[in-house]
Amino acid sequence: MGDRSPFQTDMITLTRFVMEKGREAKGTGELTQLLNSMLTAIKAISSAVRKAGLANLYGIAGTVNVTGDEVKKLDELSNALVINMLQSSYSTCVLVSEENKEALITSKEKRGKCVVCFNTLDGSSNIDCLASISTIFAIYRKTSDEEPSEKDALQPGRNMVAAGYALYGSATLVALSSSQGVDCFMLNPALGEFVLVERDVKIKKRGKIFSLNEGYAKYFDAATTDYVQKKKFPADGSAPYGACYMGSMVADVHCTLVYGGIFLYPANAKSPNGKLRLLYECNPMAFIVEQAGGLASTGTQPVLDVEPETILQHVPLILSSPDDVRDYLACVRNHQPHP
Ligand code: F6P
Repeated sequence: MGDRSPFQTDMITLTRFVMEKGREAKGTGELTQLLNSMLTAIKAISSAVRKAGLANLYGIAGTVNVTGDEVKKLDELSNALVINMLQSSYSTCVLVSEENKEALITSKEKRGKCVVCFNTLDGSSNIDCLASISTIFAIYRKTSDEEPSEKDALQPGRNMVAAGYALYGSATLVALSSSQGVDCFMLNPALGEFVLVERDVKIKKRGKIFSLNEGYAKYFDAATTDYVQKKKFPADGSAPYGACYMGSMVADVHCTLVYGGIFLYPANAKSPNGKLRLLYECNPMAFIVEQAGGLASTGTQPVLDVEPETILQHVPLILSSPDDVRDYLACVRNHQPHP
């Protein structure tokens, strides 16, 4: 952790960091513009989240999003903020948002080359009880010369050029990767700036935490049941793993990034492909975790290798400390029917 004194005279703010990376990459500057616009939206969302109770932003806005969750007022506000900031950054052509059924195409005069998939307020069912919520985003380059369309967002996660998340917890944190490791920044509210707090974060090879919704045990497949049993009653007499499930994916995954461990939203009898969305939930988190030295799997293949078929696709998600993910995959193999 770096020196976070507000009286530093040479702070590495996220804006400065992004500009420096952009210079090193000798790119077009589009990614720098895009990230800086995204960060402005994140700061505004953070401010709204902190004031939500007072500003009467809690509560149901009355509609249902494409996932079937009730849309809250903060969801609507954050979605509008991100869309407006990204479209006016002159760097995007296609946007896929959790709140919109169809991809949004940036108007010709504001168009750039980037495709962005995002969930502006994940975990929003937790808003009213003040649990941590988050913004997640994945950035791609448009690969075809055709008119921009939803198809441009159907790229495997391996093509991602950058991804990040903002976690609105007891403080606001941004974890960002543009394929050169993961760096973490904390919002200094006095300055209104994100300041670098951890460079090149690496995940532990093995942790001591498992994170999944055990309330669904009735619907688990044999591999998941077996894995969870092994964590609770280790055969070698070692201490059991701790359980931690906040029901807010970024908060849960961030916990494994900080302490090591495994997050699972596997397929189950009720949700045969899991619940989480590939484009704006699983892929960006898998990218961050891999960049931090972890693993991210659907149970049958690396998440980043999945070829998306639709923008609404779900996949099972098992990720974080590499040895823990390997243990889960060993359980999957053990429970495969023998030919
Ligand atoms: O996708 C929305 C979300 O709130 C995730 O952040 C979280 O991991 C998941 O749903 C929780 O789902 P469940 O309540 O089924 O455990």
